[in-house]
Amino acid sequence: MESQARRLRVKQVFGSEAGEKVEVKGWVATKNAIGGLVFAIIRDGTGYIQVSAKGGVTPPDSMDAIKSATKESAVSVEGLVRVDGRAPGGKEISVRSFKVLSRAETWPITKTAAKSASFLYDIRHLSIRSRKVAATMKIRNEVVGATFDYFRENGFTLISAPSFVQAAVEGGSTLFGVDYFGKKVFLSQSAQFYEEAALAALEKVWIYQPAFRAEKSRTPKHLTEFWMIEAEQAFADQSDNMSLQEGLLSSITRRVIQNRSDELKLLGRVIAEPVLPFERVPYDEVRDFADKQGLPFEWGEDVPTEVERLISLSRERPFFVTDYPLAARSFYHMTYPDRPKVTKSADLIAPEGYGELATGGQRIASYEVLMERIKSQDLPTEAFGWYLDLRKYGMPDHAGFGMGVERVTRWLAGLKHIRGASLFPRTTTRVSP
Ligand code: 4AD
Ligand code: MG
Repeated sequence: MESQARRLRVKQVFGSEAGEKVEVKGWVATKNAIGGLVFAIIRDGTGYIQVSAKGGVTPPDSMDAIKSATKESAVSVEGLVRVDGRAPGGKEISVRSFKVLSRAETWPITKTAAKSASFLYDIRHLSIRSRKVAATMKIRNEVVGATFDYFRENGFTLISAPSFVQAAVEGGSTLFGVDYFGKKVFLSQSAQFYEEAALAALEKVWIYQPAFRAEKSRTPKHLTEFWMIEAEQAFADQSDNMSLQEGLLSSITRRVIQNRSDELKLLGRVIAEPVLPFERVPYDEVRDFADKQGLPFEWGEDVPTEVERLISLSRERPFFVTDYPLAARSFYHMTYPDRPKVTKSADLIAPEGYGELATGGQRIASYEVLMERIKSQDLPTEAFGWYLDLRKYGMPDHAGFGMGVERVTRWLAGLKHIRGASLFPRTTTRVSP
């Protein structure tokens, strides 16, 4: 009696013995007929493997099936594992049974079409079936997985927060308005205020959810919808906050280097092993750096994009820029007692020109100070009702940060544009597919 084939995923086939009878299911990546032989490369969620069919060895109906299989058809293959130095990865499956499960029409991504980035994004629902996209998404998966583990190990509770909100966390200019039963509400830019409420219940909290920004700027680092990792902890200052961030980012980086070496290789990416602590560069030193580059900017201005890019290019590892002027920061930032115009805040910057990965800081814990700040910036106090109220009921020193998942993925994968770090990116010019 013939032995039953073992159902394996492609990666497992490479770990199995020669002569073993296996079954894999996947999609036809490429196909080639040479004389009486048909070679196909089959792709599944774990990798690519060559299968070969030959008259006399492969039954006639299966021979017909593999010959008729179009690129990207979903197929099922049974056969014997063969060691063959000419096959990619050193092994192939000698086909005993080949079935087309779902036939693909003529694949629209020809070699010429593939040269147009905008075409590829127009048909992103199909173009995501590439080695490069898969590698990037596996790296992203590692970023998120390492984050879940890091916060669990450090005693943080994962919370959730609404996406329909009434107040701007990061200023009004990038809010998306939504009609909410006749009332205007907004899509959340950041869950920070909800985390600040939650920390009095859970002390150390974090969140992983989408954030929305009506960013008008078309840059390689802005999306209109992205995923944010945010954390907030009670009884903590900005120094604790920076330790938390560098711990998280080095843990993510190490995990990607360790678990995704094949994907990094495919993307031609080499990442430096993280070294703790990260360098801390005060804002004032960034101004000196900018002067030397011939790009001076006023004290109080946010670090200009080009200066950030150049200082990022000058470093090989992530670093912090600390002590931003209050004028360049959101209203909720705490300032130094002896330097009332300087905030206890920092941006975490990726090296090699990739720029900002995270922003964080210590928050104002006092009701009076926060009220005064809101008034001095001409912000509507009524919009911050419950956020202010928190300060009346036991609000200790606390600090937190937000880190963009696509920013981190873009840097680790070495992508030119952030949209590649999202499976279905949303930008100023793209809301489909
Ligand atoms: O620097 P941001 O605006 O900071 C905040 O929202 C704080 N309230 C976070 C906090 O302290 N809890 O955003 C945080 C991070 C940025 O550093 C960046 O990585 C990412 O979110 N980000 C974007 N990513 C992609 N596209 C955009 N338009 C982004 N805007 C921010
Ligand atoms: Mg920021």
